[in-house]
Amino acid sequence: MYRYLYLSDVSPEFEPYQMGMLAQRARAKNQRLNITGLLLFDGLHFCQYLEGAKGDVQQLMRVIERDPRHCNLRLLGEGLSTRPRRLSDEGLFVGYSTDAAFLPGLAEGMAGMDQVVAQIWEALPRLDVDQSADWNRPA
Ligand SMILES: Cc1cc2nc3c(=O)[nH]c(=O)nc-3n(C[C@H](O)[C@H](O)[C@H](O)COP(=O)(O)O)c2cc1C
Repeated sequence: MYRYLYLSDVSPEFEPYQMGMLAQRARAKNQRLNITGLLLFDGLHFCQYLEGAKGDVQQLMRVIERDPRHCNLRLLGEGLSTRPRRLSDEGLFVGYSTDAAFLPGLAEGMAGMDQVVAQIWEALPRLDVDQSADWNRPA
């Protein structure tokens, strides 16, 4: 299982009402690629965690990186893991953070990817994530 975690800034031309369309297309494509992911949004930042086969995740990331709807992408971690998937196979779960400091705070400090992911999972009950998300698995 290859995992990828990044933080980015929302582009000025991205309007929150576009989130549903973005998520719907992304979810369908992730399902085709057998990629699962979590996309967090606070109005100013995106934070996305993706997991799947290495080649598929890296290829998708090359597309996402070039997407003009966001910019200033900061890699928070990537790599192979022997852990099972953290998310169920719904393709993409979306969550909304009303804590303006939470997503940018994930890029501060020298925490490794596992610690940052654990921080995110610990916060999920406070974020408005799709209820069907199977995120209750231990981090
Ligand atoms: C913050 C952000 C996260 C995205 N996440 C995904 C994703 O998980 N899966 C995906 O297929 N596209 C994602 N996209 C959209 C891709 O950049 C791209 O538009 C899409 O994959 C193209 O889909 P299409 O081939 O159906 O046109 C994301 C875009 C942004 C701005």
